[in-house]
Amino acid sequence: MSERYAVIGNPISHSKSPQIQGMYAKATGLQIDYTTIEGALGQFVPTIDAFRANGGRGLNITAPFKLDAFAYATELSERARLAGAVNAMKFEGDRVIAENFDGVGLVRDLVHNLNRPLAGERVLLLGAGGAARGAVLPFLEQEPAQLVICNRTVSKAQELVAKVSDRGNVLAVGYQDLCGQQFDVVVNATSASLHNELPPVPTSVFAEGCLAYELLYGKGLTPYLRFARDAGVKQLADGVGMFAEQAAEAFTWWKGVRPDTAAVIRQLTVPLE
Ligand code: ATR
Repeated sequence: MSERYAVIGNPISHSKSPQIQGMYAKATGLQIDYTTIEGALGQFVPTIDAFRANGGRGLNITAPFKLDAFAYATELSERARLAGAVNAMKFEGDRVIAENFDGVGLVRDLVHNLNRPLAGERVLLLGAGGAARGAVLPFLEQEPAQLVICNRTVSKAQELVAKVSDRGNVLAVGYQDLCGQQFDVVVNATSASLHNELPPVPTSVFAEGCLAYELLYGKGLTPYLRFARDAGVKQLADGVGMFAEQAAEAFTWWKGVRPDTAAVIRQLTVPLE
């Protein structure tokens, strides 16, 4: 039985993951049999049981199954536990090893692709939902001077900070607390852009030479990126590199060889204009 990999979601036909994993396989000279699974709602467990019984060795998980995957795992990495969500799994016998590579992908994109080392930098993370939670530990591992987590519902940011306060200089605030503060990297990890909304962030947060990053990708200039550009920010990025990097992390984890992401990023990039 050949080793099988897949991405499960619903809907799933839009997924670029098979194309990306195929490009990584070609670039590394390795084979990967990677397909999509349109999971029926409420049927995650039998669907994955059947996939494993038929040679399934690993999965990517996308909406709306990240919490089902969290519950299905027998071993959760610390970052998956903190994110409360799983986006990659590996099956070894009875073991279901679960990971969340979103935050690692984001950090790799910032540090390696965008050439923005985070050590000693002032980093502002907007949002405290699943996307933001996945980024917190990978950010703190880079030892920024300060990580500020800002959320509309401040209590959610405070709960998150309470879980990681021993890992570095990390602070929870509300938007009104941002006045007068400046940051070198400002990451929008809210879902505001999905609704064409702008988080109520003051223009003064962008320090000279700041990078404004939007997790959403492929949408060109979102309200947040437009706002940052109009505020004079020179370096803007969306999450295309993060998406390519989290896929590369999964490929490396499954196959033991790290693929180069540059061609994938080039292919998926939508100009920010
Ligand atoms: P995801 O998994 O994409 O992070 P989520 O868990 O629903 O989605 O979290 C959405 C995040 O975006 C939250 O931090 C939310 O703030 P609240 O916790 O206060 O709801 C934030 N968010 C959504 N729309 C926003 C907006 N218009 N302005 C600011 N923050 C917004």
